[in-house]
Amino acid sequence: PRYKMILDLDTGIDDALALAYAVGHQDIDLIGIIASYGNNLTDVTAQNSLDLLDLLGASDVPVFYGARHSTTTDDFSVMPVSKTIHGKNGVGDVAVPKSSRQVDAQSGIDFLIEAAHQYQDELIYLPTGPLTNLALALEKDPAIAHLIGQTTLMGGALTVPGNVTPFTEANINQDPEAANTVFQQQEKLTMVGLDVTLRTLLTKKETAEWRALGNQKGQLYADIMDYYIDAYYNLDIDKRGAALHDPLAVAVAVQPDYIDTLPLNMKVTTDKVTGDYGRTIGDTEKLLDETTSKAAILVDQDRFVHDFQRMMLAVL
Ligand code: BDR
Ligand code: CA
Repeated sequence: PRYKMILDLDTGIDDALALAYAVGHQDIDLIGIIASYGNNLTDVTAQNSLDLLDLLGASDVPVFYGARHSTTTDDFSVMPVSKTIHGKNGVGDVAVPKSSRQVDAQSGIDFLIEAAHQYQDELIYLPTGPLTNLALALEKDPAIAHLIGQTTLMGGALTVPGNVTPFTEANINQDPEAANTVFQQQEKLTMVGLDVTLRTLLTKKETAEWRALGNQKGQLYADIMDYYIDAYYNLDIDKRGAALHDPLAVAVAVQPDYIDTLPLNMKVTTDKVTGDYGRTIGDTEKLLDETTSKAAILVDQDRFVHDFQRMMLAVL
């Protein structure tokens, strides 16, 4: 494989798809999963990642605990809408067989810092949940800002309203201060936001093909994904299908030609008075500086969804 990858997941249905995609990709050596809070509690998302890794035949990939709450609160609660979209257990209330493995004893933050020093340019760090873990790692060891080869995140929105408030997307909304630390400090950063991921829709036509494989993985993944497609329908987010937010970020980290990007130094609004708390936007202070980050603006959605489906049929 060309790259070492760390997935920082709040598993989560589309996180579960991102995990399968990364497991299947020939260019990716998945060296570990950091469990984040977000779609569910950290304990639950960690267990989901262990269970899904075992289901996918990737029991050699370790799972580490990340943060249990944002950097600015000690609130452990999960947003009610997350349970509506991802199910009470995070994976569409589908009973995935429990893994007998344990979460690794090392902290996810320390694992990330160590991997940054060890692998440097070869390392892709890929968060698909809140940015709390990377912000904590940057606080502990600021050198990782330039050591990590590439950071590609799912989160934010440049040109469309958010999905939590008109200005905030869910992952950024969980910890705007942490996200701002990341946008301000982390180099070689690519933001894959909602305006792009919402164009990548999967339907029950594809999940029927997973089920038709006639094995346990295909059956369970189809059940999980159908829950998410139904939630998109019932909440009127999209009647045509459900968005491949997190897997798109994984795909473009190794195949950047799926997207067009805009070089842009960004920040996250952390001012609670201006009404746009949690917004990802260009940084006026850095308009003339060299750009250290890019925002996805377009995706070749038909090609991506087609390739994604081929990958799933190979992995499942
Ligand atoms: C993001 O929020 C989570 O619910 C999803 O897993 C995705 O990472 C979309 O806003
Ligand atoms: Ca996620």
